This record gives sequence, C-alpha cells and structure tokens, in this order.
Amino acid sequence: MSEPEILGESLPFEERIELPGWARVNVSVSTYEATLRKSLADPQEYWANLARELDWFQEWETILSKEGYPHVYHWFNGGLLNLSHLAVDRHAHSHRRNKLAIIWEGEPTDEKGQPKEVRKLTYGDLYREVNRMAFILKEKFGLKKGDRMAVYMPLIPEAIVTLLAAARLGITFTVVFSGFSAESLSSRVADLGAKLLVTADGFYRRGKTVLLKEIVDKALEQAPSVESTLLVRRLGVACPMTDGRDYYLDDLLSEVPQSIKVDPEIVESGHPLYVLYTSGTTGKPKGIIHDTGGYSVLLHATMRWVFDVRDEDVYWCPADIGWVTGHSYVAYGPLLEGATEVIFEGALDFPAPDRWWAIIERYGVSLLYTTPTATRAQMKFGEDYVKKHDLSSLRLLQSVGEPINPSAWWWLFNLVGDKRCPVGSTWWMTETGGVMISSLPGLALIPMKPGTNGMPLPGVKADVVDEAGASVAPGKKGFLVIQNPWPGMPGPPTGMFGDPDRFEKQYFSRFPGTDYFFCGDYAVKDKDGYIWVAGRADEVLKVAGHRLGTYEIESAIVSHRSASEAAVVAIPDAIKGEVPIAFVVLKQGHEPSDALRIEVRKWVRDGFSPIAEPSQVYFVNKLPKTRSGKIMRRLLRAVAEGRPLGDVATLEDETSVEEAKKAYEELGVR
Ligand code: WT7
Repeated sequence: MSEPEILGESLPFEERIELPGWARVNVSVSTYEATLRKSLADPQEYWANLARELDWFQEWETILSKEGYPHVYHWFNGGLLNLSHLAVDRHAHSHRRNKLAIIWEGEPTDEKGQPKEVRKLTYGDLYREVNRMAFILKEKFGLKKGDRMAVYMPLIPEAIVTLLAAARLGITFTVVFSGFSAESLSSRVADLGAKLLVTADGFYRRGKTVLLKEIVDKALEQAPSVESTLLVRRLGVACPMTDGRDYYLDDLLSEVPQSIKVDPEIVESGHPLYVLYTSGTTGKPKGIIHDTGGYSVLLHATMRWVFDVRDEDVYWCPADIGWVTGHSYVAYGPLLEGATEVIFEGALDFPAPDRWWAIIERYGVSLLYTTPTATRAQMKFGEDYVKKHDLSSLRLLQSVGEPINPSAWWWLFNLVGDKRCPVGSTWWMTETGGVMISSLPGLALIPMKPGTNGMPLPGVKADVVDEAGASVAPGKKGFLVIQNPWPGMPGPPTGMFGDPDRFEKQYFSRFPGTDYFFCGDYAVKDKDGYIWVAGRADEVLKVAGHRLGTYEIESAIVSHRSASEAAVVAIPDAIKGEVPIAFVVLKQGHEPSDALRIEVRKWVRDGFSPIAEPSQVYFVNKLPKTRSGKIMRRLLRAVAEGRPLGDVATLEDETSVEEAKKAYEELGVR
C-alpha cells in the first residue's frame, strides 16, 4: 500500500438531471428511501426476502453465519440450489422455452460489413447444450462436485455453455482471460489444481487469428494437475494434439444424443461456484472465491435494480468472460433473469468504428452495459458513426470498470441515449461479486449527476472514511469501505483460495476494531449522499478498465535478460483512463537503446498480456527507494504528473528522482 494521499479536494458535482426516461421506473423516490431505510434496519431479512424469489431445492437454516475465519461469511447456510437450474432449466421449462437466451455474433464480416456468423440459442437450445456438455464433463472426464477445472476461451457460446455445465455438476472453475500468456495461465491453473482445461484452437481479433493451443501446451508444462484438455474448433486450424490428453469437443459431442439429460447436482449455498484470480498489490494474483447462493441472490437483485431487466429487453454487455463483469453480467446474471442477451466475439471498432452501433441496431439492444474506455475510444471517431445507426431501441446505459469522466457521460447521454436514457456508473469489484454502488433505475427515480456512482444498493452499508475509519465530511476524499457483509462477497471456505490469512489481511485489517471491508479505492461522498469513486489508493492500475498490479508488470519486465530492476506506475491516458510506464535499471553489460526499449515492451506484451505493455520505458541507473529498500512509486508518479514530490523524508538518494525526471522529460510519453 502506498502512502495515502488524502488531498481533501472536492470533485465537481454540480450537474443534476431529471429525465423522461426515468418514467419507466418501478417506484417513487419516497418508496425508494423507505426501502433503503428498511433494508439497513435488518439487512439479513432484506436479502432473505430477495433470496426467496429464487428457486431453492431447500430453504436455508441461517441467513448469515460465519466460517472458521474472522471475515469469511456463509450466506444462506443449509440452503440447497444449483445455478444452472436457475439460469437454464427454470426458463427452458417455462413460457421462455423458445425465447432467445443468447444471440452470438462472431467477428468476421463479409464485404458488405455483415457478420458472417450469427448463432442464436433459445433457452431450450441452451438447456440441451448445457446438458450435453455436462454429460461430457461427467462421463468422459469423470469430473464431479468438488473437482476443479479451468477455462481459457474466447467469447463464443461454448464458453458460456461450459461455465453453466460446470456449475450444473458443482465443479468449481476458474476462467483465465484469453489474452493472458502461458505463464499467467499456468500459474492460475496450477494454483487451483484444475484437472481439466477447456479451451479453443483460437479466435478472431481485429481481423487476425489468435492461436491458443500452443500457449496452452506451454502452460501445461507448468501445470501438472491438468490431466486433459478439451478444445473447441473455433478456427478449424490444425493443432498439435497429445494422444490421451487432448480432445476436440465436436468429436465428443458427435457421440452425445441431443436428448441427453444430466440432473443438476444439488449444492449447498456456500459451495464455491468459481475462483477468479485478480491483481493485488503483491506478485501472486488473488484467487477470489464466489459461493453459489449469496452470489446468485446478488445477481438477481442487481439485474433488476441496476439494469431494470424485463422480458422484452435485449441486453448487451461486451465484457469478456475472463473478467468478473463477464461472469456476473454476461454468463449468469442475464440468464438468471430469463433475459435475451447479445454476445460478441470481436473488437467494438472492427472492421469499422461503428461495429458497436451496428450491433445495437441489428438486434435492437435496449440495455447496454459499457465502459468509459470504450466510450472514449468511440468519441475520437466522431458523431457520424453513431448517427448513422438507429439506436432508438436503447432505454438504459450503465458503465463500469473505472470512473467515467463527465464528457464521456455527456456523450453517452446526449448522443447515444438521445437524451432519453439514464446513464449510470456502477461501482463494484471482483471481490464484491456484483454491483454495490449505482444508480438504480429499476428501483427508483433519483436525479442523475454526470460522473457519480450514485448510492449504495439497499442492504449495502458503504461509507467514505479517513485513516482512522471515521466518516469524512461531504466533499472530502477518503477511503471507500463496505461496513456490512453482503451476499456475493468472497465466500467459504477461505475467501481467497488457499489463503485465508491473506484474505483477512488484505481486506479486513486496514481499520482495526471494525468489520469494514477495505476496497482500495479513494472516494468522495457529496452532500446528497452520492458516492464518487476517484480511483485506486494502492498499487493497482486500471488500464482500459482492466485491473493489473504494478508488481505483476514489474515481474514480467525483470524476467527479461537485460533488466535488473523495474518500477511501474500509471499515468493518465485520454482513452484508457490509465496506462503503465516503466522505469527500468539495466543489468551490467546492457546499454540503453530504442531497440531495447521496444524489446522490453514487447516482452511484457507477449510474456504477460497486451494490456500490460508499458506505453513507455525509461532507463535509469537507480530507482527511488526508501532507506529500507522499498521502491517509492509515489515519487515516480509525481514526476510523471509534474506534481510536487511531497514528503521525501524516507527517500534514500535524491539523485534517483532527479534522474527519473530527466529521463521522463527527455523521452516524454509515447
Ligand atoms: C476496481 C475493481 C467492477 C467490475 C469490473 C472491474 C474500479 C470499477 C468503477 C466505477 C469508478 C470503478 C475501482 C475498483 N471501478 N467500477 N463505476 N467507477 N471506479 O473489477 O477488475 O476487480 O476492478 O475497478 O477502482 O476497485 P475489478
């Protein structure tokens, strides 16, 4: 954790807007306020009432209990359910049987710009495919409840089918983003002890093909738990296959009858549904565990309140399943509610900048869950690409991943939503499982303010506090905390996979004597109680909304033959919000050069992930450190932002900062 920088400055939040679009909300402000009050008077009963709206095989014995660790909670202990039953079977056996669940579009287009591949799955189709996949996992690979598997797949229908089939059998899974390298894949897969890896031969991205199988083979050298791989033929390219270990999905499916049924494994509410690895302040990614019952309840509540999802809606969230948004609000949330959703394999601006808008028009998308980065990237292409398309189907826009700057908010509001659609910015994180702070168009009309996150959800107690954990005055910057347990929080048995101590230390030790969950974000609360999250307060970067640890990027850099030390900090970027830059000390015998700079950047790109590539590399002779040898990234950030250095009492050698400054000024930013 870097030294806290409580600046005490307030953010601008003058604008308040009331909209005709809000006319569709369910309840009035007064009912909303009453709901909030009631929910906080008895949050457990409040969540239990929502839980009763789901279909349990058996009701819970206690709403909230504790596991063997101080802050690992067990929601709905004793309750029995199955997520694939909730997301698929329920709808397939109802009037929604022939309703579209998934509209999938592949990236390649023909000469007229029309998609070459579109696949539509009804809830009936999804039910059939999930059962067939579950059959393969169970009968071919012998996987059962409590086993673990990993998924390294592009955004194709098979990916969602795989996750739901795993959930059906009670297999705990982890998804690794398909843009991650072999090293990132193997460390996650090995940490989880996955027996099976489901993947694809590759996928299309910006008109090129990305091959996955060779990366997988390399990763498997370091992941001994994996006994088999299952491959989707997405590209149809020839792949190196190991006999007895690697199987093609279509080969296996050809032997599975269409009508095969695999009963959902009935699991207890606290059963770990998945583990998702996310970046923290130290090297090893944290495996966040999400349970089944609490998580499903949170998704159900937020799909309704935050997205106001209805049967007639077409919902689209372009997030990848490698990130938590692609879990909660692509793979499960919309399906839990029986919605129709669009999923898209490719890049939103390929082959032309208006691909995004063409998709909305093509399928009549009404609910869009987007990001500030995607929005800012579009803004630079100009308004005509948007205006070319009929976007009148849209009725609600939400954003996620990083703070949304007011100009991006206005662009979405005025141009995309045509001044009809509420625009919100939902705050949450991998650890929370679902949205925690947001405008709630499905619940009430409250005035919007461009750039704010809004208010905590009913049942969620959140605040902005100072270093001692005391509430700060309106308009003052502090740390965001969640003060009550919530369903969907990291779950049993250990919160963080294999590391309950780290879980406790990371999230619950910051404010001793309280049960506050420390989010790691700076925030401001305004006089109306709206929360404005300002960005991370720790060594975590948000690059295009993706979460990366400075330490992870530094490790990737120093694994290059020339680098002995590296310090990575984030600098503001007009489109991506933030991008990493790196200060690198070379080993003896290596000289700074432009070629080496490029090589180091490429090394990070290939060895870790394209999103982690430093936008600039500065070679220096030493890094600013404390007397005890800790890198003072705060000073490098100040250098990059041209700010005063602040307190340098602990700095070992002042010339290190001078040198960094010189290097930075000479080279500039890319
Ligand atoms: C971090 C969590 C939430 C799913 C995707 C990211 C930042 C997220 C917002 C928002 C301002 C936001 C925070 C948070 N963040 N949403 N609407 N406004 N900041 O999940 O990768 O776990 O990252 O994303 O800094 O701590 P994640």
